[in-house]
Amino acid sequence: MTNFDLYNPVNYVFGKGQIAKLSELVPNNVKILLTYGGGSIFKNGVYDQVKAALPTAEIIEFSGIEPNPRFETLMKAVQIIREQNIGFILAVGGGSVIDGTKFISAAVNYKGDEADILRKRILFKDVNEVVPFGTVLTLPATGSEMNSGAVVSIEATQEKLTLGGAALFPKFSIVDPTVIQSLPKRQLQNGVVDAFTHVMEQYLTYTHDALLQDRIAESILQTLIEIGPGVVENPTDYKLASNFVWSATMALNGLIQKGVPSDWATHMIGHELTALYEIDHARTLAIIGPNLYRVMFDSKKEKLAQYGQRVWNLTGASTEEIAEKAIEKTVEFLHTMGMKTKLSENAEAIEKTADIVVQRFEERGWLAMGERQNITLDKVREIVEMSY
Ligand code: NZQ
Ligand code: ZN
Repeated sequence: MTNFDLYNPVNYVFGKGQIAKLSELVPNNVKILLTYGGGSIFKNGVYDQVKAALPTAEIIEFSGIEPNPRFETLMKAVQIIREQNIGFILAVGGGSVIDGTKFISAAVNYKGDEADILRKRILFKDVNEVVPFGTVLTLPATGSEMNSGAVVSIEATQEKLTLGGAALFPKFSIVDPTVIQSLPKRQLQNGVVDAFTHVMEQYLTYTHDALLQDRIAESILQTLIEIGPGVVENPTDYKLASNFVWSATMALNGLIQKGVPSDWATHMIGHELTALYEIDHARTLAIIGPNLYRVMFDSKKEKLAQYGQRVWNLTGASTEEIAEKAIEKTVEFLHTMGMKTKLSENAEAIEKTADIVVQRFEERGWLAMGERQNITLDKVREIVEMSY
């Protein structure tokens, strides 16, 4: 096991009716910016619950944070905070609203061109330099409610880039599993697949001696496989909903990544597909993931076989045979979860995709990715072309 520091200061408040606790969690005597998306919180009653929990708070609202939040939109909120002496941000929404809020929090006091936060991947470590924020999660998928990372798109250049740092953990996150009842089926499917792939990015690397992390990762995968198909059909089932929400958080709150190698190339390539074609984040992962496992087969086959045996109970005459079956099982699961695993099934005019992705990675100096730094640009091209 490699050395690690584990730091996660998020006050994670889980369960039915917990939105009422907001009054204890939000600081008194500061103006609050309430950030949200396109209005789902009005339809499902979450907005009313938030307002009821904070009857006397001075709240200014900022709506319209879009899925795959845009730098250009978020900068309008940054301006409001700078002008209006706001001391706390309350994000109410899914990963996009929470990620957007992390960017807003970081950008308010940033000296210089705020796009550099994304382009130069500035790390925010000092909590005194960011605006504190809390979240009310409405869509389990990204883990953003309990991590310090975010993904923001620059509309002008069609780029989707990341930011983060230890100063960008939420102060608290309220996670009430009943809020998923209003999610469209497509978003429920996305949530399961995003969480599943987060575990795979941190688990499906090479065999190592961090036994507990492997077992935790495998148990999250097994839980998602067990409840995924059901929760999409029955989001009102509290047993399914609560296990889904907790699994999604556990998949990317930093725990399973400690002491082990991680990959993340499926996400890096997938982000380009969203930037180019606006394909839902999870759906890009379903397109790229299995082909990455195929192209990097020699590098990953031992871990693929372990995954096949322990998560899918597969047997076979050789490591290779079990590893191959494990990839096919994964594709089957993605299909069960409503994913279309070919790029051409998700977007049109895709012929130049591999050229564009490779060129962008080259310009950014992303020449070697993955747990062994052996996903070179040639491999990226092969993975993307295999995904057409
Ligand atoms: O905008 P509103 O009206 O709220 O509607 C949203 C949106 O249209 C809707 N929604 C959310 N909660 C709902 C609901 N509709 C009904 N009932 C509810 N309870 O769902 C739509 C999608 O929301 P969004 O926040 O975009 O989805 P998700 O949570 O999947 O977030 C995706 C974003 O997170 C990034 C992705 O790249 C993408 O930009 N990621 C962030 C990560 C992180 N911070 O660690 C890691 C991930 O890998 C991912 O990259
Ligand atoms: Zn993801």
